[in-house]
This record gives sequence, C-alpha cells and structure tokens, in this order.
Amino acid sequence: MVLNSFISRVVVIWATIFTCYFAINISDIIVVASELEKEALLNTGWWDTSNNISDHCEWVGITCNSAGSITEIEFFSSHYIERELSRFNFSCFPNLESFSMVQSYLSGSIPSQIGALSKLKFLSLSDNNLTGIIPPKIGSLSNLMSLDLSLNKLGGPILSTIGLLTKLTYLNLSGNNFTGSIDSILGDLTNLEHLNLSSNKLGGLLPPELGNLKNLTLLDLSHSNLIGPIPSTLRHLIHLTFLYLSHNQLNHSIPYELTQLVHLDYLDLSSNFLSGHIWNAIGKLFNPRYLNLSRNRFGGSVPSEISNLRSLYVLDLSYNSLTGNIPSQLGEIYVTQSLYINLSHNNLSGTIPKSLHTVYYIDLSYNNLEGEIPIGLQSQGQQQFSGNKGLCGLVDRGFSACPSLTPSKPQMKLLLPFHDLFSSVFTADLVYSSSISSSSSSVVAHLAQELSSPPRIYMIAPLHRRAPPF
Ligand SMILES: *[C@@H]1O[C@H](CO)[C@@H](O)[C@H](O)[C@H]1NC(C)=O
Ligand SMILES: *[C@@H]1O[C@H](CO)[C@@H](O)[C@H](O)[C@H]1NC(C)=O
Ligand SMILES: *[C@@H]1O[C@H](CO)[C@@H](O)[C@H](O)[C@H]1NC(C)=O
Ligand SMILES: *[C@@H]1O[C@H](CO)[C@@H](O)[C@H](O)[C@H]1NC(C)=O
Ligand SMILES: *[C@@H]1O[C@H](CO)[C@@H](O)[C@H](O)[C@H]1NC(C)=O
Ligand SMILES: *[C@@H]1O[C@H](CO)[C@@H](O)[C@H](O)[C@H]1NC(C)=O
Ligand SMILES: *[C@@H]1O[C@H](CO)[C@@H](O)[C@H](O)[C@H]1NC(C)=O
Ligand SMILES: *[C@@H]1O[C@H](CO)[C@@H](O)[C@H](O)[C@H]1NC(C)=O
Ligand SMILES: *[C@@H]1O[C@H](CO)[C@@H](O)[C@H](O)[C@H]1NC(C)=O
Ligand SMILES: *[C@@H]1O[C@H](CO)[C@@H](O)[C@H](O)[C@H]1NC(C)=O
Ligand SMILES: *[C@@H]1O[C@H](CO)[C@@H](O)[C@H](O)[C@H]1NC(C)=O
Repeated sequence: MVLNSFISRVVVIWATIFTCYFAINISDIIVVASELEKEALLNTGWWDTSNNISDHCEWVGITCNSAGSITEIEFFSSHYIERELSRFNFSCFPNLESFSMVQSYLSGSIPSQIGALSKLKFLSLSDNNLTGIIPPKIGSLSNLMSLDLSLNKLGGPILSTIGLLTKLTYLNLSGNNFTGSIDSILGDLTNLEHLNLSSNKLGGLLPPELGNLKNLTLLDLSHSNLIGPIPSTLRHLIHLTFLYLSHNQLNHSIPYELTQLVHLDYLDLSSNFLSGHIWNAIGKLFNPRYLNLSRNRFGGSVPSEISNLRSLYVLDLSYNSLTGNIPSQLGEIYVTQSLYINLSHNNLSGTIPKSLHTVYYIDLSYNNLEGEIPIGLQSQGQQQFSGNKGLCGLVDRGFSACPSLTPSKPQMKLLLPFHDLFSSVFTADLVYSSSISSSSSSVVAHLAQELSSPPRIYMIAPLHRRAPPF
C-alpha cells in the first residue's frame, strides 16, 4: 500500500513534468522505475545530494542506460560512515549489471535479496566489514562474471551454490573466515581465470579437480591450512601465470609435471613441508621470473639447471636443507634486471663461485661455506655471509681475513725508523717481499689483512733491491 501510494505520487509528479517539458513518448512505467531507483538510492542515505543534482543518473558513480535505468553503481566515499548493506534495496535495480562498493565501511550481512539482481555481471564488496555467510540466493546471479568479496569478515563453508555461477571468470573470496573443502565449487566453474581464496580457514586437501579449471591464469590458495600433496593435475592449467600456495602444510615433493606450465611467471610454494629434490628437470620448459621455495624441507643440491631459467629475477631457496656446492652456473643466469638470490639457512658447502659476482643481491648466510668471498659480492655487506664458519674477505669490509691468501713463503717485516728520510717523529712499517707476483695493490690488500695493525707505508720489492724506491 505504501508502495502503491508512492507509485501514484511519482506518476503524478512525473506526468506533470513531462507534459510541461517533454513530448510524452517515454512511458510512465519507465519513469516510475527510474524514480523508484532514485528513491532507493536516497533511502540508503549514502549519496551526497548537497549539490542538488536532481537527475540521479548524473550522480558520482552512477551510470544509467538510455531509458534512465541504473546499470552501474560504483560507490565511492572517502568519509567514514558505517553503512548497513541491508539499507540497499536490491529489488529496485532490475537492470543493474555492475555493483561495486569497495572500502565503503559496509557492515551487516549480505541480504538474500541480492539474488534479485538478475542482470548482475560484476559484484565487488571487497574490503568492508561484512559478516555472516554468503546467502545461497547468490546462486541466482546466473550472469555473474566477477565476484570479489575479499577482505571482509564472512565465514561458514564456501557454498556449493557458488558452483552454479558458471560464467564466473574472476572469484576473490580471500581474507575472510571461510571454512570447508573447496571441491564443491570447482565442478563447473570452468571459465575461471582468477581464483583467489587465500587467507581463509579452508583446510583439507588440494583437490585434483583444480586441474579442470583450464582457463586459470591466477591461482592463490596461500594461507589456507591446506594439507597433503600438490596434485599433478595442475599440469593441465597451461595458462597459469601466478601460482601461490605458500603458508600451508603441503607436503611430499613438487610434482615434476609443474615444469610443463610454460607460462608460469610467479611460483610461490614457500612455507610448506615440501620435501625431496628441487626438480632436475627445472628449466626444461617453464621459465618463471619469481621462484620462492623457501621455508620447506627440500634436500639435495641446488640444481645447476636453474641457470636455464632465463627470466628469473628472484630465487629464494632459503630455509631448506640443501647440501653440496653452489653451482657456478648460477652466475650465468641471464639478467635483464637485478637478480636476487637467497640461499641462506641451508647446509651448502664449498666455496662461493666467482661467477656469482654479477648477482645484484645474494644472501648466503648460515651455510657451511668457506674460502674467499668474490670481491664483487663483498660490497653487498657482511650480514649476507654471516653464519658460515670458513668465509673470508677484506678486513676493512668487516670480514675475517683469508688465511688462504697468506703467501707460502714467510715475509720479512722490518720496522725501520726513517730519520734520514722524514721528520724524526715519523715511523713507518716497511715490508719487503719477494714472494708475491700479483699486482702491488692487491698485495697491499693482503698485507693489510695479515698485519694486526696495518703499516702506514708499504714497499713491495724483490729482496735484491737494496734501496727503497722512494
Ligand atoms: C542546494 O539547494 C539548497 C536549498 O535550495 C541551497 O541552500 C544550496 O545552496 C544548494 N546547493 C548548491 C550546491 O547549489
Ligand atoms: C524494496 O523495494 C520494493 C519495491 O521495489 C519494496 O516492495 C520493498 O518493501 C523494499 N524493501 C525495503 C527493505 O525497503
Ligand atoms: C570496520 O569497523 C571498524 C569499527 O567497528 C572500523 O574501525 C574499521 O575501519 C571498519 N573497516 C572497514 C574496512 O570498513
Ligand atoms: C576469523 O575469526 C577469528 C576468530 O574465530 C577472528 O579472530 C578473526 O578476526 C576472523 N578473521 C576475519 C578475516 O574475519
Ligand atoms: C582479489 O584477487 C584478485 C586476483 O588475485 C586480485 O587481482 C585483486 O586485487 C584482489 N582484490 C583485492 C581487493 O585485493
Ligand atoms: C588475493 O587477494 C588478496 C586480497 O584479499 C590480495 O592481497 C592478494 O594480492 C591477491 N592475490 C593475488 C595473487 O593477486
Ligand atoms: C576459456 O577461454 C577461451 C578463450 O578465452 C574461451 O573460448 C573458452 O570458452 C573458455 N572456457 C573454457 C571452459 O575453455
Ligand atoms: C603429509 O601430510 C599428511 C597430513 O598431514 C600426513 O598424513 C602424511 O603422512 C604426510 N606425508 C608425508 C610424506 O610427509
Ligand atoms: C619467500 O617467502 C617467504 C615466506 O614464505 C617470505 O618471507 C620471503 O620474503 C619470500 N621471498 C621473497 C624474495 O619474496
Ligand atoms: C631472502 O632474501 C630476499 C632478498 O633480500 C628477501 O626479500 C627475502 O625476504 C629473504 N627470504 C626470507 C625467507 O627471509
Ligand atoms: C651439514 O652437512 C654436513 C656434511 O656436509 C653434516 O655433517 C651436518 O650434519 C649437516 N648439518 C645439518 C644441520 O644438516
């Protein structure tokens, strides 16, 4: 009744306006529908009407079709008002195709009436304070292509009704408290390109059916309490560019078939319980830019084939149980940009290959490495080499001196007062050496490490030279 009187009021008002200003060839029905939409917007109290624009189609974030019915709402407001989503009357927007209220301080639960938006294609309510569950009625949004409910306080099991939204290409439910296995939704969502369910409380196994989502380019299931192995069916996801499975409890070894994913650019499997060897087949097919396998239980050696990864710019294998030598081929990774390598907290042994001097940043701390740190790497700082018993370098860079650099023949160290050459207060350490054939500047560097208090004047000369050359 309230509605009826409302409608008749509107019809009267608009009939008047229209007879005055326009030819009456737009039907009253459309006018009424349009006024209902405006009324519904006003009822929320969310829109700023202080600028007195009467045509709501001109309001910020509102788009209408030619008949004056709203097709898009992209709400934006920078000032804080707690907004109850239930104030929005979903039944009033039959032509709405896109509804976005991101970071809008929305609270309350998602009303079942949302199922009335039968033309809806895009829905984003991300980064709000929404609570409760996703209403089963969401399954009626059969045209929905993109659903982003990320960063809310939603919970309960991820509904199988989401599986009815077969046109979805983009689904982001991350950063909520959703529980339960994800199998239920996977069956028919074969058009999905982005699936982000990260940071929920899913638990359970990674279902092999994930391999059916053949159009996926992005899969983020990190921070999801997942257990068990990575299914080898993921090899079917041949368009995959981003694969994030970090911070779960995934175990067993990485299925070698993952190297068939030729478009994979970002692979993050860090912080799991993965074990076995890092693939030997690495570099045969796939060519990631970012490879993070840190904080797992990988054993064996660092495969030299990693140098085949021509696009790599981040390689993080830290916090594993890798043994053996660092392959010198790592220095051959072709770099188009700065290369970061982190091999810290493993059990690598041997020396650091000189070829690594091109690496922009390298962390080799907490291993079993020994020998001289390549000069080019020493400038990166001391910290990345700490926790290795046998590494050495330039003392003035803070490293321990290299014993291996002590020349085999003993050196003569003479302390000579230079009264005859300089003023009487001046004393110099003078060092003669016949045993060193390298250039004098590096000899000076060696000597500087060897002597506990470095000499102020060096003279490097064969012993048969009688007089100092100055
Ligand atoms: C809107 O209308 C009110 C009342 O008619 C008036 O006081 C106000 O100045 C108007 N605001 C603008 C932005 O024109
Ligand atoms: C929403 O609008 C419809 C009319 O389109 C009306 O029947 C219903 O009562 C309204 N609901 C709310 C909560 O205002
Ligand atoms: C959620 O609500 C709290 C207060 O209850 C508020 O501080 C916070 O900014 C809100 N967050 C969002 C994203 O609306
Ligand atoms: C999930 O639930 C826990 C309590 O069960 C709560 O502390 C946490 O803030 C919730 N997280 C979200 C994103 O709602
Ligand atoms: C939701 O996930 C998609 C894909 O991972 C991402 O592009 C988008 O930025 C995410 N949304 C938010 C609000 O972060
Ligand atoms: C997944 O969504 C979250 C927002 O909750 C975002 O921070 C994250 O970057 C997204 N993941 C990817 C891979 O885009
Ligand atoms: C996948 O993407 C292609 C190309 O964009 C499209 O033709 C196809 O319908 C999509 N869905 C499936 C299930 O392959
Ligand atoms: C992997 O984890 C599951 C579940 O936590 C456990 O039952 C299984 O024994 C583990 N397998 C291996 C090889 O670690
Ligand atoms: C690799 O992942 C770990 C967490 O699992 C993270 O701390 C680290 O920053 C990541 N490495 C890089 C280079 O992004
Ligand atoms: C390894 O080093 C990189 C580069 O400094 C850093 O970004 C990353 O966080 C480190 N990884 C871990 C697990 O700390
Ligand atoms: C590191 O490897 C050495 C042998 O090279 C072994 O004796 C030692 O126990 C290993 N340390 C750890 C922590 O695995």
